[in-house]
Amino acid sequence: MAFREDFVWGAASSAYQTEGFPRADGSGDSIWDAFCRQPGAIANGEDGSVACDGYHRFAEDIGLLASLGLSAYRFSTSWARIDPNGDGHWNESGLRYYDRVVDCCLANGVTPWMTLYHWELPQALEEKDGWQNSETAAAFSRFAAMMAAHFEGRVSHFITLNEPQIVLKLGYADGIHAPGKRLSLPELVSCWKNLMLAHGLSFRAIRKAAPEALIGIASTGKLCYPHSPADEDAARQETFRLTDSDWMFTHAIVLDAVCLGRAEPEAGALRKLLSEVTPEEWDTMHAVPDFIGVNSYNGSEIAAGPDGAPVYLPRPQGFACTALKWPITPEIMEYGYAFLYERYQLPLYVTECGLSCNDHIFLDGQVHDADRIDFLHRYLLALYRGCERADIRGFFHWSLTDNFEWHSGYAERFGLIYVDYPTQKRILKDSARWYAQTVRENGKNLQRLISAAQTH
Ligand code: FCB
Repeated sequence: MAFREDFVWGAASSAYQTEGFPRADGSGDSIWDAFCRQPGAIANGEDGSVACDGYHRFAEDIGLLASLGLSAYRFSTSWARIDPNGDGHWNESGLRYYDRVVDCCLANGVTPWMTLYHWELPQALEEKDGWQNSETAAAFSRFAAMMAAHFEGRVSHFITLNEPQIVLKLGYADGIHAPGKRLSLPELVSCWKNLMLAHGLSFRAIRKAAPEALIGIASTGKLCYPHSPADEDAARQETFRLTDSDWMFTHAIVLDAVCLGRAEPEAGALRKLLSEVTPEEWDTMHAVPDFIGVNSYNGSEIAAGPDGAPVYLPRPQGFACTALKWPITPEIMEYGYAFLYERYQLPLYVTECGLSCNDHIFLDGQVHDADRIDFLHRYLLALYRGCERADIRGFFHWSLTDNFEWHSGYAERFGLIYVDYPTQKRILKDSARWYAQTVRENGKNLQRLISAAQTH
């Protein structure tokens, strides 16, 4: 077995989680700077003021990525670094920083995949109601147009938005991410609409400024897998079901809008609110990406009930889980990707997949993360099966280095590379070497390693 010959193997990161020095060189405040200042918002009162010091150490990290044989680096640009007031007066020093990052990737033979919005809205725009205001979509599109023109020819892959689902749910509904709001359903629907308009407008702006570049969106949401082959229809149905109580954390609420130009919730308040979206607004949102990025962590097992309707199966006691207590469900890489491909018929990339582990430096000075290796092994084997039913073209590990995990702070470690925060020293974890071998063999090792383990 092997993945397609041109399969893209990479790793991912984001600006606020890694760069540090968010106010350097004329940058503006972002909603994450402001949110981290609120007492109790982040575990241990931590923030991204230093993070992994990527602002100064990006070359070391990109060098390590290249040394693992990875051909692509997905990173994000901080909008507030470049557009401090959100008004299109560009901060040239901020832009120069991303010039250095992109040029460093290219010098190392690494393809830069640039995400334009990984949650750091300029605080100046939040003060004008952030994503509740349709002007924010226009401001984002202006930013995207400038970025695409500036990086044209150097950046071949742009991602408009990272996980609009999480922006809505954790940022505007549950209030545990910046900007920490708890809005009503009608207000949430207007945020959703403005995010989708931001995708549609920025997609067209990027296409115009950099016609050769490929443009995607990074989506996340529930992915279901069947208990047995007879339950597949129920799992598919539940994956895309939109209801008043379960719509924000779904792929359908974003991908149906941008790929199909519609969204069809079951009867209820959400359905009524969406019926008020005008045909012109649907047309603007409807900007079919060149590829869909899928951020994949876990999913739910579904069986068909007596009437065929989907039923969630409870997880057995002691179900395998990560340090964050997220369940380990590799099946999503097979079934979830098959369902997404059937529905949207677009190339798919795993733009994020990984886990947090309780990593630490062992007595021998190394970081032995067997749990991450086993997780990756299982998820990649399932992804390989998924390739038989879906056009899956690449895999980006979340994350390249340990980093600031939003409201959990630095307690959670997702990296292939360990960061010793007091010294900023980087240590390749065992999983980094394992992943490098998998990349070298384009996945041929995955089956062999199981057979070898079973004969012991
Ligand atoms: C995703 C985010 C990413 C990281 C991982 C663990 O939702 O896109 O920044 O926090 O989860």
